[in-house]
Amino acid sequence: MTPPHGETPSEVAAEWARRRPPRGGDTGRASAPHGGHPLATGNLPRAQPGGATASTPATPPHPPTALVLGDPAPHLPRALVQTGYEVTRWRRNLTRGQLCSPWPPSGPFGEVWARMPRSSLEAAMLLHAAAARVADGARIHLYGATREGIRSAARHFPDGTEAPVTLVTKRRCRVLAAARRAPPPRPDGLSSWKIRAPVDWGTGPRDWTFYPGVFACGRLDPATALLIDCLPCLPAGARLLDFGAGTGIIAAAALERAAPGAEAVLLERDAIALVAASRNVPGATLVLGRSCSTLPRPFDLIVSNPPIHAGSAQSLHTVEELVREAPGVLAPGGRLMLVAQRRLPVSRILERTFPLTNTIADRESFRVWEAGGRRR
Ligand SMILES: C[S@@+](CC[C@H](N)C(=O)[O-])C[C@H]1O[C@@H](n2cnc3c(N)ncnc32)[C@H](O)[C@@H]1O
Repeated sequence: MTPPHGETPSEVAAEWARRRPPRGGDTGRASAPHGGHPLATGNLPRAQPGGATASTPATPPHPPTALVLGDPAPHLPRALVQTGYEVTRWRRNLTRGQLCSPWPPSGPFGEVWARMPRSSLEAAMLLHAAAARVADGARIHLYGATREGIRSAARHFPDGTEAPVTLVTKRRCRVLAAARRAPPPRPDGLSSWKIRAPVDWGTGPRDWTFYPGVFACGRLDPATALLIDCLPCLPAGARLLDFGAGTGIIAAAALERAAPGAEAVLLERDAIALVAASRNVPGATLVLGRSCSTLPRPFDLIVSNPPIHAGSAQSLHTVEELVREAPGVLAPGGRLMLVAQRRLPVSRILERTFPLTNTIADRESFRVWEAGGRRR
């Protein structure tokens, strides 16, 4: 999510937040009492010590509140705190040392800041959630980079918000803002965004649950399909780990061809994907996590279509970590099966840890590798 050079959207948004004049209340009202742009906070009456404005009687001091959605970077929350805001952060993805959940806390908040997500539908979902968490007149901000689609992102603001304006454009990043005028049209909650679509991995179509922003939303990814074609029939009592399980497609396909009594554990860092997996693979054990090293062991088979990106940049960090940790959670004779683009140096990564590695399938640009055994 980081532009190739210069400041990130989070830094640009932080700079804007830091420069605006101090605020006196937490209503976030977007009126323009002295003329000028309604979204320029400088047009609001200046705060007096104790939270009163020059023309209103003193009210008990309480800090203005802001909700920051989907931004793992510290810049904007830090800037908001430094300018007197009480900040609540929400993320769907588990990040080191930070909490996550499938849906933001209900608030209400004085204003909301949403980091531009990867897909249009996820942006619409995020802005809807934002609009449900502020009062009429309060501001909703969306910030991101040109290559993330921020230039055309005004269309994602829900009905009931004013036309968004651009507060700042800098280093191919923008901050948009719009005031809420009425509640957003959909009921608040993740269930309003459930997507049902048929998925067929070769044994007939199944009604599958997705939510905006999950991997391969609404379809079967070709790499996932190749790995499914290579899955063995697990015997009764076998334990499977699906690492980076997403909505649970690989685990569901493995259980479909397993003997009764086989068990599946789905490890995923996206709390929303796990909600989908709970509908799609009932009976499986779902774990919100980022590492297999702490899971109850051992596993007879670990399968993964692993992430090979960190933001928009390619990164094999998670694959390397998974391969390093896998021997510690595999049963004697257990195996790891990975699918990824053939051009990636997955063999090399596997050979550093496992004495036995094999290519077991190639299709289009994808390859499935299998690894096992233990180094002495
Ligand atoms: C390429 S997708 C595959 C999803 C699913 N297995 C499928 O094939 O449809 C990779 C998944 O790994 C998850 N992920 C990324 N880093 C992770 C980590 N460190 N631990 C667990 N899951 C992770 C992502 O959220 C994403 O759902």
